[in-house]
Formats: sequence, structure tokens, C-alpha cells
Amino acid sequence: MRVVHVLSCESVSLPGCESGFITADLIRKYADVEGASFFVCGPQVMYDFCRGELARLDLPRRRVRWEAFGEVKNIARHPAFPAPAVGRTFRLKAQVNGTSAEVRASATETVLVALERAGLAPSSQCRSGECGFCRSLLLAGDIFVVPESDGRRAADKELGHFHPCSSYPLSDLEVRVPRTA
Ligand code: FES
Repeated sequence: MRVVHVLSCESVSLPGCESGFITADLIRKYADVEGASFFVCGPQVMYDFCRGELARLDLPRRRVRWEAFGEVKNIARHPAFPAPAVGRTFRLKAQVNGTSAEVRASATETVLVALERAGLAPSSQCRSGECGFCRSLLLAGDIFVVPESDGRRAADKELGHFHPCSSYPLSDLEVRVPRTA
């Protein structure tokens, strides 16, 4: 196996790493395109970009596989999202490392995004309720959890743990974030 790191952050460059996005030219540079299959996993914006670049390689569809999860682009259009919540904002109180902070949170942004706006930066990886990195405690309030991205175990639900990356505020919230990035 050969791993090639491609750093999209313009302000960071590391020896031996490519920078920019994963373009068709970059793929050709490292892979035998004629004999390869491609498995794509990452955030939605990377999917959108790679879809165009892989199309340039003119591969049969069966040779490009996509992981089936990612951030929800517009939660207001999700059929299970409660329509009356659209346009509302709530008070989000967060306890982090023994201190607390407060921020306004829109019903249509994830709790994770609201926490990041407050400069609290909880740990996160997948941003789709799968990895558990952002797992936090819901002390008070109601949330909408994306059904397809509900990675909570039964014990999590019972004890009030949730994933801010796949949860949206439906009332004022109080949360405890155990880990920050
Ligand atoms: S970042 Fe993976 S579950 Fe939240």
C-alpha cells in the first residue's frame, strides 16, 4: 500500500506531501488508472470536487465507489426535520474543560458548528455521527438527530450522550463537551 497525503490547507505544506485538491492529474500521477478501482470517503465538498475529477478519467461507473454518508447539506429539506423550527435560534450553553460559554445556535446548523463558532472546537472527525469523536453530554434541551447519521448506542441515548455533528437544536440547550481539538 502506498499512502499519498494531499493537503488542501493553503497555509500548510509538508515535505513529501502534495498540496491542493485531488485532481485527475494527481490521480494519474500516483495510480494506474486503467487497472484501478477508486473508493472515495470524506466530506461532502471533497465528494463534489472528486466527482468531477474522476469523471475526467472516463472510468466505468462500477470502478468508482462512494462511502454513503456525509454532512447533510440543507437540513431544512430533510423530510424528518420539524418545519416549525426553521428560522429559529436558541441559546446554547456549553461546559468545556471546566468553563462555560454561551452562543446563539440556529435550528438549521449542527450543534458542532455552533460550538465551533463559539471558539470551543470540540474534537471531530467524520462530522456525520459515525466516529464518536465529538460525543458529548446533553444536559438539557431537545435536539433533532439526523436519522441516517444517528450513531448513538442504546446506552448513549439512555444516558444523554449525543453527537453534536449530527444534531440540531430544537430548544435552548445545555451541553458538556468532554474533549476539545
Ligand atoms: S465527528 Fe464523528 S461522530 Fe461527530
